[in-house]
Amino acid sequence: MAGRYPQEWLEELRQRADIVSVIGSYVQLKKNGHRYVGLCPFHNEKSPSFYVDGQKQVYHCFGCKAGGSVIQFVMDIERLTFPEAVEFLANQLHMPLPELQNDPAYEKRRSLKERIYLANKAAARLYHQHLWQEDGADILAYVKKRGLSDAVIRRFGIGAAPARPNIGSTLMSEGFTKEELIAAGLMLERDGRVFDMFRNRAMFPIIDAYGNVLGFGGRAIGDVQPKYLNTSDTPVFNKRYNVFAANLLRRARGLQRVILVEGYMDVVSLSQFGVEGVAATLGTALTPEQAKLLSRYAPEVWLSYDGDSAGQHAILRGLDILEEAGVPVKVLDFPGGLDPDEFIRQEGLEAFEALKPISGVYYRMLREKEKHDMSAEEGRTEYAKACAGFLRRVKEPVELENYVKRLSMETGFDREVLLQQIGVRPAAPEKADVPRRESFRKKAKEVSQVDWAARTLLAVLSTGRLPEGSVSPEEFDDPAYRGLCEAMLDGESPAALMERQPDDEGRAVIGDILSINTDLDDEGLMQMAQDCLKKLRRERLEKEMDKLQKSLSTLPEEQRAAATQRAFQLAQQLTELR
Ligand code: UTP
Ligand code: MN
Repeated sequence: MAGRYPQEWLEELRQRADIVSVIGSYVQLKKNGHRYVGLCPFHNEKSPSFYVDGQKQVYHCFGCKAGGSVIQFVMDIERLTFPEAVEFLANQLHMPLPELQNDPAYEKRRSLKERIYLANKAAARLYHQHLWQEDGADILAYVKKRGLSDAVIRRFGIGAAPARPNIGSTLMSEGFTKEELIAAGLMLERDGRVFDMFRNRAMFPIIDAYGNVLGFGGRAIGDVQPKYLNTSDTPVFNKRYNVFAANLLRRARGLQRVILVEGYMDVVSLSQFGVEGVAATLGTALTPEQAKLLSRYAPEVWLSYDGDSAGQHAILRGLDILEEAGVPVKVLDFPGGLDPDEFIRQEGLEAFEALKPISGVYYRMLREKEKHDMSAEEGRTEYAKACAGFLRRVKEPVELENYVKRLSMETGFDREVLLQQIGVRPAAPEKADVPRRESFRKKAKEVSQVDWAARTLLAVLSTGRLPEGSVSPEEFDDPAYRGLCEAMLDGESPAALMERQPDDEGRAVIGDILSINTDLDDEGLMQMAQDCLKKLRRERLEKEMDKLQKSLSTLPEEQRAAATQRAFQLAQQLTELR
């Protein structure tokens, strides 16, 4: 970036923009206490779980965990980058744009995470350049042989890691340190020497919805194992939370479905043929986090995996994950064991678009049927029993009726008998949002007691109504919480704090913190803070005590007396805290 907007000016922009009126022009909001509530524009919901807090100038969705400042909202709803969103708001408010600042100390102050983002972006640029150079010729020949056009190569920023790699040394000459490049997964250290991680591979940058390069998938061009070498998890890259081509998903408008495929090549190839809204997992099975992420871009997900048996198993697991997450899902099944890349190359776009997705239930029935000898009575009976197992979960009576009719034709059993096998269920009351709420509750439960204490304390602190000196950063063991505490004590606004988070994960945590109810009088707030402090201190003492007791038997004689005394002290302090 050439420079940055001055913090004070951004703060003024946020204040003048007023999050309630900006969001209110996109979403119908109702007042609820000091907050406003409405239907989340970022996922499908029937009852509102989207909150806007005018005091803190932030928004937060309890369903899909979207959240942030007014600038983040404009980025997400208008699909803009940060500077574009800032300009968009400034224009509406008739605020002149200030001069961009160039602050040399700023680069140094950036966290490791941000340095990794920068290194990855620089690496992606270098790989892409090498593709058109002499030492990338073999790799260019390979991607051309796979039928990729120049346009699609540019759209995905595909690159070349040359056989004699030099990306690491170039990046170091650009000012990145060895440690940063190792942390980014671009280099690795062995026997005291550092090497480039990727050599002689076609490089697929993995880019998130905000344009950050998170890591790479490197495709071998010969018969080298592994076929794909992926960046291992780093501070900015977690394969559970991201998908390949999220950047393009975000740009596609009015998507009716996201197509989820297995391979990077499938995404690229479908895109080349003109299919929009395609993403892939990152070499691991689909996770609930990815299911949630995908549900933000379209009302449905279509699983479109390879037609081999591994792909079929992955579809069954994927159906479970998406259904569990409350995301409507269908399956695009390919004839003849083809994968999406092979299918569209052989049959073309029209044939691809003519494929009809089938429901998860039909798909399960198809797979189940293959396991049984349908010419034998025993096979048909087992098949009917297995299907009854998952038909039990179908909520809509009319849908169930369709499946039962089909099953009856396939097995010869009467409709009534099948319904009996499925089990008579009383019509359940309409509970549209149940899966989502419950998964949120589950998530809340996963947050430990200590975490809750830390988060609640931060929420209280963010009101700015605690007497000075009541809370110090040292109260937090977790460096992430400690950092938040320091920023709040420095007077950073909740909105600015959220904006500073480089990823959805960070924003979701802060969103959770800021949405903790702190509608109390001063005395109540102080009481709340003290309860949390107690819990945090007790946890710290208990941890120390635990360690001490475990080490006691192995301590040398001369240290034992001191240790015992410390244990005694700890026990006393613990009693006082209780
Ligand atoms: P595929 O083997 O189907 O790869 O693996 P592909 O993307 O279709 O590529 P081509 O067409 O064979 O060249 C599907 C996905 O599994 C992960 C990658 O994410 C890949 O895109 N994978 C596969 C790995 O991470 N490592 C491997 O060694 C193989
Ligand atoms: Mn494949």
